[in-house]
Amino acid sequence: MRLLASLTAAAACSAAFAQTPTLPQQTSPLLARLGLQRCGTQVLDQGQWNFAPPGDCGNSTNPTAAYEPNQVLEIPVVFHILRSSSGQGNVTDANVNEQIDVLNEDFRAIAGTNGQPGYDTMIQFKLATVDPGGNATNGINRYNNTTWYNDGGNYFNSIAWDPNNYLNIYTNQASGALGYVPFLPHQGSVGSNADRVVALWSAVGKNAPIGPPYNQGRTVTHEVGHYLGMYHTFQSGCGSSACYSTGDRICDTNPEANPFFGCGNNSSCGSPDPTTNYMDYSDDLCMNRFTQEQARRMRCTLQWWRPQLAEVAGGGFSTTYCTSNLNSLGQMAQLTVTGSPVVSDNDLNFSVANLPTSVFGYLLMSQAQGNVPFFGGSSGVLCLGAPFIRFSGNVLNSGANGEIDFSPDVNSLPQGASFATGSTWNFQYWYRDVVLFPTSNTSDALEITFQ
Ligand code: ARG
Ligand code: ZN
Repeated sequence: MRLLASLTAAAACSAAFAQTPTLPQQTSPLLARLGLQRCGTQVLDQGQWNFAPPGDCGNSTNPTAAYEPNQVLEIPVVFHILRSSSGQGNVTDANVNEQIDVLNEDFRAIAGTNGQPGYDTMIQFKLATVDPGGNATNGINRYNNTTWYNDGGNYFNSIAWDPNNYLNIYTNQASGALGYVPFLPHQGSVGSNADRVVALWSAVGKNAPIGPPYNQGRTVTHEVGHYLGMYHTFQSGCGSSACYSTGDRICDTNPEANPFFGCGNNSSCGSPDPTTNYMDYSDDLCMNRFTQEQARRMRCTLQWWRPQLAEVAGGGFSTTYCTSNLNSLGQMAQLTVTGSPVVSDNDLNFSVANLPTSVFGYLLMSQAQGNVPFFGGSSGVLCLGAPFIRFSGNVLNSGANGEIDFSPDVNSLPQGASFATGSTWNFQYWYRDVVLFPTSNTSDALEITFQ
């Protein structure tokens, strides 16, 4: 029902997409991984993976190297902020944006952040930019309804966005917990309206209003871990030596007799407890890792249980060939592209994440690549060779989210440029970095060969 049969069109799909649900069975081994582009959602193709059944991330785990992170998968997120009728329980846009940042820091183990020590799952998150009706959105909805605020009234049946295609996160009183998910993907009805993450409103974001020790956004990291198939590290206590089928079904997390609260070390089941793991109950600042096998189980979950959820960042057709410096946030601005490399489709969208808020910049492009530090390296790395074209035309601003979204019309490119079939173009974002002002910084750079 959720697997290949799910190619029936979702209600939100345009008719053009709905008519042609063909599987790319004939593609190269790499492209075979990528599946279909449909309604902006990549369907991960199970057809090439018959050796690796859904049971690989069900009641037991098969952490085969086939699930090793090797391409960035991006999950669109919608936040539903459920407030009381008098407005209690508001989560600000700033806290929502911080929460997305925390998810990315943790799941991508971004250097210079609290999530650095972990394993890079190559799974990342973005607020939805298109709603189920195809309209532009900021991915944040707010409701005033006291029953819903108290986690009652089956709000999800009224307001869920297609759970096959969006990670629905609801914030409210979370039934007295910090957060919960109703079931792990192999235990419940994935894609039903109830399929969701619920988080205590005051624990969302960095420096969230709940205060220490649960104010650094790790509740949502933990719950999204469940949503992607993770058990608690202390599941069933010590389990047995069959660590892929008992306990948390993961062998590179030590068995743990009980949940650990607080910060620091503990020992049980004859070994140190995995108290820094996101799937324990430690304080937010003391949890900082998923393991490699957890990453593989989560990617298996995306492939088998949630095949419509993630998009392949870069659409599988762009390659990041050049990295840049950390900026004043301690992060590298990241350029990604979605859409299609077929010029006549004219549906490319470039986004830049990890920018400081409200800084100006340009998207540049060139047919030549380069790798030259700006100002001795203090101001980014120029990854393009001359001549450059100011692709975005006007100056862009990263706004309150610290992000750029740019959808060019490829039929009228600046400076008389055109994307010829078979030509390769390189793209990079240049921006002012507030702290370093008046110097500049740059994103990583990617190349696209057009079809
Ligand atoms: N108790 C919740 C659960 O089991 C979440 C615990 C989150 N821990 C944290 N440090 N934020 O899903
Ligand atoms: Zn939990």
